Amino acid sequence: MTPAPSLVDSHGRVLRDLRVSLTDRCNFRCLYCLPETEAAQNFYRGRWANLPESKPIAWQWQPRTNILSFEEIERVVRLAVGLGIQKIRLTGGEPLLRRNVEQLVARIAALPGIEDLALTTNGFLFPEKARALSAAGLRRVSFSLDSLDQANFQKITGRNGLDEVLTSIRLAQDLGMNPVKVNAVIIRGINDHELEALAGFAREQDLAMRFIEFMPLDSARAWLKELVVPGREILQRLQASHSLRPAPRRNPAETAQRWVFEDGRGELGLISPVSEPFCGHCNRLRLTADGKIRTCLFSVVEHDLRSRLRGGASDEDLADYLRSVVWQKEERHHIGEPDFVSPERSMSCIGG
Ligand code: GTP
Ligand code: 5AD
Ligand code: SF4
Repeated sequence: MTPAPSLVDSHGRVLRDLRVSLTDRCNFRCLYCLPETEAAQNFYRGRWANLPESKPIAWQWQPRTNILSFEEIERVVRLAVGLGIQKIRLTGGEPLLRRNVEQLVARIAALPGIEDLALTTNGFLFPEKARALSAAGLRRVSFSLDSLDQANFQKITGRNGLDEVLTSIRLAQDLGMNPVKVNAVIIRGINDHELEALAGFAREQDLAMRFIEFMPLDSARAWLKELVVPGREILQRLQASHSLRPAPRRNPAETAQRWVFEDGRGELGLISPVSEPFCGHCNRLRLTADGKIRTCLFSVVEHDLRSRLRGGASDEDLADYLRSVVWQKEERHHIGEPDFVSPERSMSCIGG
């Protein structure tokens, strides 16, 4: 039975989705997240000249002692489920870098009240973990795949890993983790020429391919509005090459507007947080690897749960704290507005 919704914010939204980052570390250097490679810097360099104040985020990996243990994460998830959370998504950084991640999956999967447990990964380490994750109870995976071209994949991610990711996607399908979702962040001048190929890949492989607008969450603070390819433009392009039909929304909090191919295999999703924000229906809460609660991807304040977890707080204290934090959830993001302030940390620390 669904517990009474007690994670409610001051805008009337009921939170059902908790995204748990397991580590801030990553084995990729995607240019929309951790653009630390020369290729990423070359891409942005010319464009930076126009930016009056683009101060890269001085980031460091969190010391291990700051990272929540599996026991701590399980406790927070259990409490959150008691407060009405139904969906858990494990993210990073790269969550598969967390040693014995399958043990955490098994613990969370066994908690009563979890209706959905999913993981977002870059897919590089998935082949070695896939069977253990599936046996532990993982039912859904989303992969990042921004290019089908070896050289462009390397330019975007900083890693020569396309083959591994393609293998991972097939493996997830073979293990029945369907529908397998694939996330492509589209950046003008980088991979927008691959839209048709990526859509064709979704159809051939019977995947849910999602095209995501680039958001200002990169560590270089190099985001520019001009680099965003609006979802509407993406759709127009895809409609020119494929026969598409809109798919009904499954729930109002869904991030993607979904489209299916007329011939029935595969699905496309447009995730357009910049040009068509979906904050009004947001039901998401985030727990960072170092135990901070974030009520929005773009929060400029984080709420320190870790000190409470480690300071002897009772379950009741923690539940009260979560309720009071959620009440303060931001109404919406302000991307592209004059008052926009970038979050202090990049997406790898926040969790996608
Ligand atoms: P499920 O419904 O659990 O399958 O996932 P989802 O549709 O919510 O998508 P997922 O969690 O995989 O998120 C896909 C992408 O959408 C993320 O990588 C982000 O780029 C973006 N996104 C997800 N949640 C939010 C959000 O709360 N705000 C904004 N602005 N973007 C988000
Ligand atoms: N803008 C949009 N989506 C992003 N992601 C990471 N950084 C960004 C960004 N700047 C998404 C990618 C990845 C997931 C973990 O987060 O889709 O798959
Ligand atoms: Fe929710 Fe913030 Fe994302 Fe808007 S930007 S959908 S409020 S997390």
